[in-house]
Amino acid sequence: MDFKIRKIKAREVLDSRGNPTIEADLITKSCCAKAIVPSGASTGIHEALELRDNDNKRYSGKGVLKAVNNVNKIIAKKLIGVDCRKQREIDDILIELDGTENKSKLGANAILAVSMAACKAGAICSHKQIYEYIQKLASSKKLMLPDPMLVVLEGGKHADNSTDFQEFLILPKGAKNFRESLRYGIEVYHCLERVLKSKGYNTNVGNEGAFAPNLNSNEEAVELIAKAIEKAGYSFKQVSIALDSASSEIYENGKYNLKKEKIKLTSDEMIDLYSNWVEKYPIISIEDGLAQDDWNGWQRLNRKLGDKIQIVGDDLLVTNIKRIKKAVELKAANSALIKLNQIGTVTETIMAIQFSKENKFNTILSQRAAETEDTFAADFAVGTSVKEFKFGPTRSERTAKYNRLLRIEEELGNKAKFARL
Ligand code: PGA
Ligand code: ZN
Repeated sequence: MDFKIRKIKAREVLDSRGNPTIEADLITKSCCAKAIVPSGASTGIHEALELRDNDNKRYSGKGVLKAVNNVNKIIAKKLIGVDCRKQREIDDILIELDGTENKSKLGANAILAVSMAACKAGAICSHKQIYEYIQKLASSKKLMLPDPMLVVLEGGKHADNSTDFQEFLILPKGAKNFRESLRYGIEVYHCLERVLKSKGYNTNVGNEGAFAPNLNSNEEAVELIAKAIEKAGYSFKQVSIALDSASSEIYENGKYNLKKEKIKLTSDEMIDLYSNWVEKYPIISIEDGLAQDDWNGWQRLNRKLGDKIQIVGDDLLVTNIKRIKKAVELKAANSALIKLNQIGTVTETIMAIQFSKENKFNTILSQRAAETEDTFAADFAVGTSVKEFKFGPTRSERTAKYNRLLRIEEELGNKAKFARL
């Protein structure tokens, strides 16, 4: 059999927010695999660079023709003839070809499209499901279905006139398998819709398919979600709450600007706010509670709440081993959010997950504000056996991932382990 890469071709396609993104086809004698890259709205400053054209005549500067060109003219030439099953070698070539710390020469979007397409082609050529193939790449002992973590209310950069904090999530944890967990979560989501309507709030949705009402305060979001959990008939043991403050976005001149409350808080005052909420509500996880370089604040936050709940770094860690290592050393967090396009290759993402696990950090695979129909993330989560899966809950670009996980669980039958158990 000939597993050599014969052709790589990229093109500009659209993401779920209607912006251009990049798709790559990778072709061998026996298969053709495609991958599309997602994109963030509240992108951290330490993320690998997403290359955009900045040509205002097209898509308000958001075109990705330069990235497409980098794949078709530069990357393809280097990878033709390489065995598509050699993921590490392929990713090393991509990293070396770029040569920069943050993939700013070729663009992390160009690089990731090829890296993901190679991974899918490798799976097809090895006659394996993508999740099985990734399990091998990641040397995961078991295939595991993650806990779904559903964004049910969103604000910040993901919606206008909603909360200052970006995401309010629910984490169903009382169910015996993934399918049931997802049902708990979706039932609460629909109950929240009724709770919001009964209070006269609108139920339009933001970027990730979660409700984005114009509430009176940030805390009201937590109150209403707690109410929806009860109304849906679940206890707080069965379904609990998580936050993603995305607070780098509200950090201005050393303070956190909560416009809803008309107050500006210091790091310590933010930590007090979270401690108070954790006392009052069933909150078990806080992501980006403080800004991406507020390391001292993160240390104090983790000292205060880290033995009770997940303290999750997204913009803080950006799926980058160097920053995860720093957080381990400083005891600045206890969980890592994982996004493939923050670092730009499949291999580096796997390494970030492995390193996090070795250091007892929980791992959460996450969506971006702008997603696509590509379901690679679902297979990736199972193959690397991350603990949680932060997507959705609604809109096809998000449910596509959940539906893929449902199929994987069915396919694995008794072999499927579930993160919760
Ligand atoms: P983003 O949001 O894609 O806008 O970064 C997702 C998140 O912050 O978790
Ligand atoms: Zn986040």
